Amino acid sequence: MTSIALSSAAPTGLKVDAVIVGAAPADDGLTLLPGTESLDKAMKKKLAEVLVQLGATGKADEVVKFPTLGAAKAPVVAVVGTGPLGEAGDPQRREALRRAAGAAVRALAGSESVAVALPIEDAEDAGAVTEGILLGAYSFDQYKSAQGAPAVRAATVVGPGVKAKNVKEAVARAELVGAAVNRARDWVNTPPRDLTPQAFAEAATKLVKGTKLNIDVLDEKALAKGGYGGIIGVGQGSANPPRLIRVAYRPARATKHVTLVGKGITFDSGGLSLKPAEGMAEMKSDMGGAAAVIAAVHALAELGPKVAVTAYAAMAENMPSGSAQRPSDVITVYGGTTVEVLNTDAEGRLVLADALARAAEDEPDLIVDVATLTGAAIVALGKRVAGIMANDDDIRTKVHDAARRAGEQMWPLPLPADLREKLDSPVADIANIGDRNGGALQAGLFLNEFVDPGTGWAHLDIAGPAFTDKPHGYTPKGGTGVAVRTLVQIVEDVAADRL
Ligand code: BES
Ligand code: MN
Ligand code: ZN
Repeated sequence: MTSIALSSAAPTGLKVDAVIVGAAPADDGLTLLPGTESLDKAMKKKLAEVLVQLGATGKADEVVKFPTLGAAKAPVVAVVGTGPLGEAGDPQRREALRRAAGAAVRALAGSESVAVALPIEDAEDAGAVTEGILLGAYSFDQYKSAQGAPAVRAATVVGPGVKAKNVKEAVARAELVGAAVNRARDWVNTPPRDLTPQAFAEAATKLVKGTKLNIDVLDEKALAKGGYGGIIGVGQGSANPPRLIRVAYRPARATKHVTLVGKGITFDSGGLSLKPAEGMAEMKSDMGGAAAVIAAVHALAELGPKVAVTAYAAMAENMPSGSAQRPSDVITVYGGTTVEVLNTDAEGRLVLADALARAAEDEPDLIVDVATLTGAAIVALGKRVAGIMANDDDIRTKVHDAARRAGEQMWPLPLPADLREKLDSPVADIANIGDRNGGALQAGLFLNEFVDPGTGWAHLDIAGPAFTDKPHGYTPKGGTGVAVRTLVQIVEDVAADRL
C-alpha cells in the first residue's frame, strides 16, 4: 500500500514527483483553497488565472495538471476540484476532501511520490485526506503481465497542523481503515476461479493468524451435519464446496456484542434459474458482503474498541449442474424453517438465513448484515447508494448516520409488514421470492424471519455500490470495498454508547 508521511512545510519545497492542491467553485470562477499559497506566490499570484484559462471550475472529480517550470521543486502540479466545501467538522466536507484526494491520486498514476496540500482544518480532515489517497491509489494488477502506469507509492499529507498528536492518531486510523477497504477490494476483484469459498476461508485464516482474532471454518461436511440447509442448498451445484466462516474479536471488559454477517457468493450464475450473459461477469462481486465483514473485523481488532465483534461469512458458489438445487425444491435452513426455493437466483437470502439464525445463538446486542442482495435495490437507489433496512427505526437512523460520517452513501428503506404475505408458500414455511414490486424490501422481510425480534438488526443491501464500471473520486474500477468503513464506524459508535 501507499506509504503516508506528514509535513507542515510549504508544498513547493517538497521533493516529490507532483504536488496536489485544491480549488473550489465560486461565483466569479474559482477559489484557490488553503494549501495553494506558496505555489500561487511562486507563480506571481497567477494560479487562479491560469486555472480559469485551462478551463478549471473547481467542481468535484476535476483534475488539471500542468508543469511547474520551477515554481515548485516538484515538476508537476495537479489542481483538484473539491466542489463546494462545507465547514470543518461536517462529514460532507470530509467526504469532499476524501474524493478530491482520491481523484487527484488516480490522475497521477505513474508518479512515484506526491504531496497532498488540501485544506486540513482538523484531525478528521487529515484522516479523510489519508483515506482518499490510499483508496484512490489502489490498483489490482496481480493478473497483468505488464503493469500500466503504476499507482502512487508514497504520499505526504501537507498542512500547518499535521504534526499534532490527534492528527497522527486520525491518520493512523485512516491507514488501518484504508488497508481494510483495499483488502476487501482485492477479494472482490479476484476471479472466482481463484476465490472459491475454500480459498476465501483460507485467506481469512491467514489474515487472522498471529492476531487476537479467533476463526472457525465449517466445511461442507460440518455444514450438512449442522443443518445449514441454505448454504448447502446454494452450494450443491458447484464443484467448489461451501463454507461458513466465523471470526471472533473478544477484547477484555467488553460490555456489548455486535455481530456482522456477510453474503459470500463467490460467483452467482443464478444457478438453474440462470442469469442472462450480460452483466454475469459482475457476479464475481457477489461476495462483497463477506469481504466487508471479514476486513472490518480485522481492522477493528487493530483499532481495539471495547466491544465484542463476531463476523460470519456465508460462502457458496451458485452454479447450475446436475447436482444443483431446483426451482420448487424445499430446503430446511439452520434452526428448522423450511424454504421453498422458487428461484435459485434468490440465493443470497438462503445462505444468510443460515448465518443469521446461527448468529442469534451468540445473543449479540446488534446484528448488521451486508449483502449484494437485490437488483431491485439498484433500481430503487442507483449504483452508488446502499439501502438500509432494520427492525428498529432508531437503529436504522443511527446506522444511516454512521454511514454518513464514514463517507458512504446509504439510504433508509422500509420493511412494510404487509409485503410479507408475498413470500407465503403453499408447501413450505416461506418462499424465497415474491413478486417484482419492492424486491429489495421483500428480500429484507425474508431475512427478518431469521432474526430474533428482540435483537437489534440492520440489513445493508450493497448490490449497487459493491462494484463500479466507472471510476470516480477515490473509487477505481471494480470492487469498491463498500460497507467496511460503515461497519467500523458502527462498532466504534457502539463503543462510544452512541448506537
Ligand atoms: N446477486 C444478485 C443481486 C445483484 C444484482 C447484485 C446485480 C449486484 C448486481 C442476487 O443474488 C440476485 O440474483 N437477486 C435476484 C433476486 C430475484 C430472483 C428475486 C434479482 O435481484 O434479480
Ligand atoms: Mn442471485
Ligand atoms: Zn447473488
